[in-house]
Amino acid sequence: MSPRLVVVSNRLPLGDNPSGGLVVALEDALRNSGGLWVGFSGETSPSPEDRLTFHDGARFQRASFDLTEEDYETYYVGCSNSVLWPLCHGRADLMRILPEYVEGYRRVNARLADLLLPHLQPGDRIWVQDYHLFPLAAELRARGVTAPIGHFLHIPFPGAQDCAALPNPAELFGWLSHYDLLGFQAHRDLNAFVQSAQELSRIEELGGDRFRLAGRGLRAAVFPIGIDASAFIQEARRAPNEDRMRSLTGAEMMIGVDRLDYSKGIPQRFRAFQILLENHPDLHEKIAFLQVAPPTREEVQAYRDILEETEHLAGRINGQFATINWTPIRFLHRSLPRATLAGLYRQAHIGLVTPLADGMNLVAKEYVAAQNVVDPGVLILSRFAGAAETMDQALLINPHDPWELAEAMETAMRMSANERRRRHAALLREVVEHDVTWWSASYLDALGRARDSD
Ligand code: ADP
Ligand code: G6P
Repeated sequence: MSPRLVVVSNRLPLGDNPSGGLVVALEDALRNSGGLWVGFSGETSPSPEDRLTFHDGARFQRASFDLTEEDYETYYVGCSNSVLWPLCHGRADLMRILPEYVEGYRRVNARLADLLLPHLQPGDRIWVQDYHLFPLAAELRARGVTAPIGHFLHIPFPGAQDCAALPNPAELFGWLSHYDLLGFQAHRDLNAFVQSAQELSRIEELGGDRFRLAGRGLRAAVFPIGIDASAFIQEARRAPNEDRMRSLTGAEMMIGVDRLDYSKGIPQRFRAFQILLENHPDLHEKIAFLQVAPPTREEVQAYRDILEETEHLAGRINGQFATINWTPIRFLHRSLPRATLAGLYRQAHIGLVTPLADGMNLVAKEYVAAQNVVDPGVLILSRFAGAAETMDQALLINPHDPWELAEAMETAMRMSANERRRRHAALLREVVEHDVTWWSASYLDALGRARDSD
């Protein structure tokens, strides 16, 4: 029997329609491998139980824990999403550093190690996810856990300049040194990790994927995350009749699907769309932009600001260009079922994925998987998404330059069917070959071998 997989993440999906690349990918990965997934329930309570609550599922088990309001504020809203998230997305200016945030972050990671300990079995492999849980391996090791522990970072790793903005940068590398395997989305992240560690900690390159970090041996490598491509292709094929939707909008659809996060470049793409409409009156009533952006992390001021900016821009652009029959931008501030999303992607002539910084971006892969291969749409993709490293047949753009983005929109609108098919075939091959099963299998295979020849 293969060793049991124990996945630990902050977010544990217990409800419907999760948005966020981490839960979407892990749900798919665990459905294939089975195992136990431990995470935060999403609930706060004044005195959370000091044990995990188990939720049985068909293919794998889930176990959740509650947080106190104070832990939620300091560990999740504070350290994770007001310090680490902006830092890793090149927005150190949005960081809000408070001593209680770092204390709460350490406290929750220590408590999680306590909660996990009684449930670990000999032979388990532990796979820790994302920036909320950097200290977890150190906490588990301090409690005597010797099992292989891997970490996967879903978001970009910050460069040395940004890391230096942390209150105690060396501590981050100390935490990371307790893992057997560090996984990154893209080569740019692995390089940033090595360079940052060189400047702010001690790292030796031992050849291949082997390193010695702060005195401990570990492996570090790139594992670009994927989607469950075959399931998504099926989902999109089952979607309602395309012609019906097209006649409802009366125009070709351009779609954006993102959590309403400042890293996603949503206002920048609205401005680019405005430039397109200003410069190309012939495209009026021919293109309609649907932006689906569910709320996220609204406790953080920067997220409330981006909502206001987005609504304001959409209102202004619609006011400037709308006609009786045509609304240029439709902005849906909510989650949608995956089947509905798959159908919308399929009907969209342009998929707009323009983050200013992004670990991978699964929406880019979902859009490609959902296309009709005979008459596929065009993916416009930011160079700053991890996905750009492998999806170079998209129209790659700089999202900070609205003129370049507007030009790409026009190119996509006018692209011949032949060129669309050629680009799409190459993109689809990549999405299918490197799907979520490949991602988790290659990561877990490397974790299994991480201690060889140590
Ligand atoms: P992130 O992880 O930063 O949110 P990704 O693009 O990697 O970005 O992953 C986002 C995931 O969330 C995708 O699987 C996408 O389909 C899903 N998602 C985004 N917006 C919505 C929405 N409005 N309704 C349902 N799912 C959504
Ligand atoms: C990104 C992060 C995940 C996170 C998700 C949704 O994908 O990498 O760790 O779960 O966003 O954000 P939330 O704060 O709602 O969990």
